Amino acid sequence: MGQRGFATRQLHECPRGAAPTARATPIYLTAGFEFDEYGQAAAHFGQGEGYAYTRIGNPTIEAAEHTLASLEDGSQALLLASGQAATSVALLALLEAGQHIVSSTHIYEGTRALLNDNLTRLGIETTYVDAIEDTDAWEAAIRPETRALFAESISNATNRLIDIAAVADVAHRHGIPLVIDNTFATPYLLRPIEHGADVVVHSASKFLAGHGSVLGGAIVDSGTFDAERSGALFPHLVAPGRNGTPSLAERTGGDARIAYARESVAPRFGPTPSPLNAFLIGQGIETLSIRVERQSENALAVAQWLAGRPEIASVDYVGLPGHRDHRLAAAYLPDGYGSVFTFTVHGGAEAAQRLVEGLEVFTHMTHLGDVRSLILHPASTSHVGLGSDERLALGVEPGTLRVSIGIEDVEDLIGDLAAALAVAVDVDIAVIA
Ligand SMILES: Cc1ncc(COP(=O)(O)O)c(C=O)c1O
Repeated sequence: MGQRGFATRQLHECPRGAAPTARATPIYLTAGFEFDEYGQAAAHFGQGEGYAYTRIGNPTIEAAEHTLASLEDGSQALLLASGQAATSVALLALLEAGQHIVSSTHIYEGTRALLNDNLTRLGIETTYVDAIEDTDAWEAAIRPETRALFAESISNATNRLIDIAAVADVAHRHGIPLVIDNTFATPYLLRPIEHGADVVVHSASKFLAGHGSVLGGAIVDSGTFDAERSGALFPHLVAPGRNGTPSLAERTGGDARIAYARESVAPRFGPTPSPLNAFLIGQGIETLSIRVERQSENALAVAQWLAGRPEIASVDYVGLPGHRDHRLAAAYLPDGYGSVFTFTVHGGAEAAQRLVEGLEVFTHMTHLGDVRSLILHPASTSHVGLGSDERLALGVEPGTLRVSIGIEDVEDLIGDLAAALAVAVDVDIAVIA
């Protein structure tokens, strides 16, 4: 055959197949995969063998999942397009209409909106526990139709910790899983599964990716689903498959929860991450320990400095001895207290605005877990949808600011805050007020 036409060559004149062994994870930025032999197509659709379509499986995505499962001491991980997708898929894999979640009050506002607005419309209700240190309060909120307990390892805004082992015991007495959002702690500082949690979710957009360039999310499962003990509560995990094929629990054992999320929730609702984002998340994870160690050291130094300043009314950092959960931190955060915390300036919202406008090293934005230091005014942004009483109950006052401390030289961070505070807060007026 002579030379093919221009349009054909622009599509097909590109070598395919075996590549040299790249040391960095190759980016399989492809919607689908060629079936090398005719029978592979049927083997994929029949038995799930090999790769066919990126929404079902992709080697770059699986590489990041593999690392994350190992770092969280889990059995398997599932990477998704965002942290919101991870929480949604994790909960939709456990709950159906008519069922119920018990959640900590101290959670990310996006998660609260998911529970209150979206899951409610699907017939799934949530009861909140405010006194999260009180295991009796968790116990009392559980109903016969409860199918998950939910909390954050370090909570967004006020840095509350939860006694994961104690709350996991409550959940397990009822045969239901404890789901922990571990975004703030990262597996470097805290591995919830080691303390008894069953499912971990992450916004990978934050510390895991680490550089503020991509969105991603992940679910990690402990792999301890017990079909005998909990099968009656989760019939979708133990029911026979189509045409009498084995159930998920028979096929995957303790991994039935995450297998259901991978096979029946994520590909149907469709929040598949881009393989390029999966690569960037995987690359971010390679330096996670170094970044989080430095961020935690910097955050502690900044929090201690702020706590000694006359312009500051309070600092909510679990690393400080005065924080109400500092005692728990000794057990749960031996390697550092994380990078995100809030502090409140004297002088209310106006002083907070002047401070943010006076900063040069900190970036004013709604994000966290970045290598750069970031600052945000929650009362007028992330928590604006709440009433002022609700905000106050969550520790968000008019003068409260949330910082996510980066890996800069800490002297520059403190210098930046000192210069901006000097302009923002009139100490004489503030102290009288
Ligand atoms: C604790 C926590 N969980 C989940 C999310 C949602 O993650 P994403 O923005 O990646 O959807 C966030 C986002 O800020 C968060 O702070």
